[in-house]
Amino acid sequence: MSISPIRFQVIDTLPQSTRSDCIVVGITPGGLSKSAKQLNKACGGLIQKAVKQGDIHGKAGEKLYLYPQTGTLSKRILLIGCGKNDKRDSNVWSKIISAAMTALNHGGSRNAAIYLHDMKVNGKNLDWQLQHAARVMTNATYKRGEMKSTHKKPENPLALAKFYTEKNPANARKSLAKGKAIGEGMTQARRLGDLPANVCTPSYLASQARALARKYASVRTKVLTETQMEKLGMGSLLSVAAGSDEPAKLIVLEYKGGKQSDKPVALVGKGVTFDTGGISLKPGAAMDEMKYDMCGAASVLGTFSAIASLKLPINVVGVIPATENMPNGNATKPGDIVTSMSGKTIEILNTDAEGRLILCDALTYVQQYKPCAVIDIATLTGAVIMALGHHISGLISNDDKLAKEVLTASDDANDPAWQLPMNDKFQRQLHSNFADIANIGGRAAGTITAGCFLSRFTEDVEWAHLDIAGTAWVSGATTKGATGRPVPLLTQFLINRCR
Ligand code: BES
Ligand code: MN
Ligand code: ZN
Repeated sequence: MSISPIRFQVIDTLPQSTRSDCIVVGITPGGLSKSAKQLNKACGGLIQKAVKQGDIHGKAGEKLYLYPQTGTLSKRILLIGCGKNDKRDSNVWSKIISAAMTALNHGGSRNAAIYLHDMKVNGKNLDWQLQHAARVMTNATYKRGEMKSTHKKPENPLALAKFYTEKNPANARKSLAKGKAIGEGMTQARRLGDLPANVCTPSYLASQARALARKYASVRTKVLTETQMEKLGMGSLLSVAAGSDEPAKLIVLEYKGGKQSDKPVALVGKGVTFDTGGISLKPGAAMDEMKYDMCGAASVLGTFSAIASLKLPINVVGVIPATENMPNGNATKPGDIVTSMSGKTIEILNTDAEGRLILCDALTYVQQYKPCAVIDIATLTGAVIMALGHHISGLISNDDKLAKEVLTASDDANDPAWQLPMNDKFQRQLHSNFADIANIGGRAAGTITAGCFLSRFTEDVEWAHLDIAGTAWVSGATTKGATGRPVPLLTQFLINRCR
């Protein structure tokens, strides 16, 4: 595994009396932070000198190492630019922490004492800052390229980050634990997204679920085979698997942290381990990226890992329909009509609109758990990238209260989502002359009509859908890879439900 563990601690010693491999303090365009001033006194004005000489200006993300000669101080000082006080928002905070983590990971420090409590983030409290910092730092331990023959762990990564807090150490510790759990969930999701489709198959995803169940007594898992799915009448899901030699799996995860009688929250994640488009074959350019088409599934697994490690007092059920979408001689053809588990018939006009075909059966299946809310997560449409780009996930829901709750979690987690509308006019685009519903609704509003399709299978539950086609990964020759989103949003949603 490519993940090196990092631990977090809370400390209350002042910077000048802390002995650490490194002390981190903030610099703003206005000058030294309170901690930087205290430390500056103890090291004979070294920090002030660096600022005066123009070696650091306080711009967000700037970094500079200094080496105090006083033997009673820590080995090194890392100055971090924190930007203007009134401009410091969530994103700037991420930038500050990422910069610190990069410098620390590439330096000689095994442990660091961090004094950034005096660098307030607008609209957020210290607990938020700590949670977010721990998440960013944990997520940064993931190193891409585990299949490179030369892949190795960073040689001397930061192993211990100690955060100074003036009050409420117990809260601070809890916030750090949440951030760490979310960060670990993200790295797991990223790893699965980055793995190629010849490794990360439906069976591999199932093995990851089983590994979670082995690690946590609170998690149980069950994997349905194609024969079992056939018995349940999952004709829609199986129509996608028909063209592939790789067996499809329906992966079920149950997390029990709440009371026996608590209705579970259901998470349903699209697990298409490779999407060629099927007979409606995709163009060749960048088709490699369709290995990411299981990032919904990966986000469910990452979220389960986070909530299990946090022992959240809540019940959650996860369902992952996992399959390839391939075009062999058995493959579903445009115009084929299949019967879904719900009994509704579907005319498959485009075999590349396969995500909704596997999700609809998973959404029907999960309702036997009588969930209090269902959230599905899917790299569902290219159209969401046209609408919201790579920064914001698309949200569609049949329940405005649930949608608001998802948006609140999204804001808390700094994992942006934006709600799109859904109504009868859009629903009509799914009309079929030959079946109950068509699986595509034309070019216009492709993300919304995909949501409309799913809504036909969730009429009896509070349901929200996250289209993460734009946010689950970044493209680009040297930057491409999975992001681990929306593990932060989902985990935060569940954390908020426990309040
Ligand atoms: N997996 C794709 C969506 C996708 C596109 C994800 C680009 C990531 C990046 C999905 O299965 C798909 O092919 N959707 C089609 C739907 C269309 C045929 C109605 C699309 O978006 O083109
Ligand atoms: Mn497709
Ligand atoms: Zn797909």
